[in-house]
Amino acid sequence: MRGILLFALPRLNAVTRINSGSGAEVALSPKCSPKILMESILEMKFRFYMPPIQNSQKQLLCKVRNLSKTYLMGEVSVHALRKVDLDLYQGELMVLLGPSGSGKSTLLNIMGGLDVPSEGEMWFENFDLTIADEEARTEYRRQEVGFIFQFYNLIPSLTALENVRLSAEIAAQPMAADDALLRVGLAERMHHFPSQLSGGEQQRVAVARAIVKQPRLLLCDEPTGALDHSTGQLVLLALQKINQELGTTTVIITHNADIGKMADRVIHLSDGQISRIETPAEKVSPDKLLW
Ligand SMILES: Nc1ncnc2c1ncn2[C@@H]1O[C@H](COP(=O)(O)OP(=O)(O)OP(=O)(O)O)[C@@H](O)[C@H]1O
Ligand SMILES: [Mg+2]
Repeated sequence: MRGILLFALPRLNAVTRINSGSGAEVALSPKCSPKILMESILEMKFRFYMPPIQNSQKQLLCKVRNLSKTYLMGEVSVHALRKVDLDLYQGELMVLLGPSGSGKSTLLNIMGGLDVPSEGEMWFENFDLTIADEEARTEYRRQEVGFIFQFYNLIPSLTALENVRLSAEIAAQPMAADDALLRVGLAERMHHFPSQLSGGEQQRVAVARAIVKQPRLLLCDEPTGALDHSTGQLVLLALQKINQELGTTTVIITHNADIGKMADRVIHLSDGQISRIETPAEKVSPDKLLW
């Protein structure tokens, strides 16, 4: 049986994972002395990690329950999410579709630990993100989640390789930066600066930057939103390849219903609620998609 015990050690700025299957992984900050370690363990908030929840052969990675988000804008309450329930399985490629303002980004941001809900729960395996403190959420984002946004946000004074290396530096078990660029088809361009790359190439650098950490969850908010059809296809092919080769669980937000054809499941959001879930009978390769 595989079980994980996770200790959140706020005073050490560390998350310690003990995995009965493969031993202990402990990441401690340099300020850790044995005395602080003992004191911190004595006052630690800990959670027992049970084996991942099974659903036939599928293992659950994220579990969203009764999730609501309300923004208060003066006198007005904006209900961005209303009691959303959602399961995301390990290795799944999920597409989130819905009109503007339907709550797609709000849901993704909460799943990625960038935002907190007003109500409800978001579990990553058996880690309840919604009661985690800021430090534990930061550690979660750093180690488990890769983000890709519509705009690439690369550092202009660094080459593609240096941009990717920067992200690798904060991760516990990164892959080599040049390997990440190779996986997105940019081996030849790794020494180029962002200004010397096309929009699609810059977005693929952003994909490499997200995956170099080897995150288990890849969250993409309109990754092709600023791209034309053919460059958008190359970015989607890169995402599909990462999903298939590394098994990275991937969520892609888009306005383009056709992109749903490359997904395992398509979640339709409307007015802060899931209105429909589709499971395409057959997955279509991104290079066959039209929009
Ligand atoms: N920080 C915020 N403060 C106030 N209201 C917000 C905030 N963020 C989102 N909203 C509101 O919450 C609702 C959902 O927004 P969200 O960004 O999740 O939608 P979306 O589906 O991603 O839309 P789009 O496709 O345009 O990106 C909208 O009505 C939006 O105006
Ligand atoms: Mg959005």
